[in-house]
Amino acid sequence: MCYAIPALLIAIEGNIGIVDYFGEKRKILLDLEFEPVKVGDYIYAQGGVFVRKIAPKEAEEILAHWRNVFFELKKTDEALSRIDQDKLSSNALAILQKVNLQKTLKKSELLELFKLKAPEELSVLYEIANNVRQREHGNASCIHGIIEFSNYCSQNCCYCGIRADRVGLTRYRLEIEEILAIAKNAIDKYGFKAIVLQSGEDYWYDDAKLEKLVRNLRKMGVLVFVSLGLRSEETYRKLYKAGARAALMRFETSNEEIFSRIRPGTTLKDRLKLIRSLKDMGYVIATGFLVGLPGETDEDIVNNILLTKSLGPDMYSFGPFLPTIGTPMEKAERASKELILKTIAISRLVDYGSNILVTTALETLDKEAKREGLLAGANSMMINITPEKYRSLYAIYDNRASIDTVVSKAVQETVDLLYSLGRAPTDLGFISG
Ligand code: 5AD
Ligand code: SF4
Repeated sequence: MCYAIPALLIAIEGNIGIVDYFGEKRKILLDLEFEPVKVGDYIYAQGGVFVRKIAPKEAEEILAHWRNVFFELKKTDEALSRIDQDKLSSNALAILQKVNLQKTLKKSELLELFKLKAPEELSVLYEIANNVRQREHGNASCIHGIIEFSNYCSQNCCYCGIRADRVGLTRYRLEIEEILAIAKNAIDKYGFKAIVLQSGEDYWYDDAKLEKLVRNLRKMGVLVFVSLGLRSEETYRKLYKAGARAALMRFETSNEEIFSRIRPGTTLKDRLKLIRSLKDMGYVIATGFLVGLPGETDEDIVNNILLTKSLGPDMYSFGPFLPTIGTPMEKAERASKELILKTIAISRLVDYGSNILVTTALETLDKEAKREGLLAGANSMMINITPEKYRSLYAIYDNRASIDTVVSKAVQETVDLLYSLGRAPTDLGFISG
């Protein structure tokens, strides 16, 4: 079984390829430096980015399997994406009608939506966001594998359970060869097409080690996603050269005062500067924030969404703040599920074409939250492929969901969830307009 769908390249315009995906046209960013392609080739792409070519015979076999499943899934997705607008107040309805007309919503309107509370109104907000997701992405969704390869961190973010000063936590770091072996196993066994390499800010991994890791991982024919924290621009430049094409870096909050309180020793300005530089270097960007930090207002969250958009990301990544024992914020209140679902929905209304992740932190809040997030505008997921013995040690927050789930089960559960929602577990990029 392969969890990605090959696509036929039907046109090339500069570094943009147009692919055909069961009759829908999508645009993807090619990587001609890595692998030249021509019209008529079959390729894999993830999140709108070229991954690799695939032999025609193999592609046609996989497509034959998918052709049967795909149209069934699509019907389910379309049925689940209908909207029942009758439940909405006239004011909220007027704002949401602008979404149908593809008009940009003003900040005051976003704030008004954010303040919706009645369950029946919220359910319409989620339905509309889900409908936009369906309109923009069809039923495609992407699944990335994530390896948390070190829980050492030189930073001291007040909310985080692997901060440098956290005592009583067993620290681990994996050797480069070990990380590559984990990735190879997941790619061979489950067909992952994108691998996220995540760690604390751990300078034990110098540039040479990271370059070796990225280079060898890219050779396995996957999109290499790095999530390494505030490393230097030079390091990120070298990693791009080695084959990394996507970078995950949250700015955590757009409120400077809260930022300086929770991330001592760093500034919001520096973080944003690095995110912008990564984009300039050519990285596909995933960014976002923590939802529901203590002291944050609804307006702060709307500002967070707008700041995310202004960074031009390909993927929105946010999760609820969860207090962690042994950190300075252990007594703070955790974010509510409603807050994060609203954040997902409003992000979708602000940035129609974006990929929006449902994260493990959301799942930790509540078992159903992942499904609800996918029905409120989200379309992407990550599966933790870190070996089980290390997973509980990557303790950024307490009681993380899925820390005991073996990879095969996590993959199966994810695919089952996507199928039950009529989603195809692939993402070839945006529908070409
Ligand atoms: N609750 C939720 N998310 C957290 N992160 C770190 N600590 C917590 C916490 N207590 C998130 C941060 C960081 C990512 C790696 O993990 O947003 O960017
Ligand atoms: Fe380190 Fe990231 Fe945790 Fe901050 S949030 S302490 S940078 S792992």
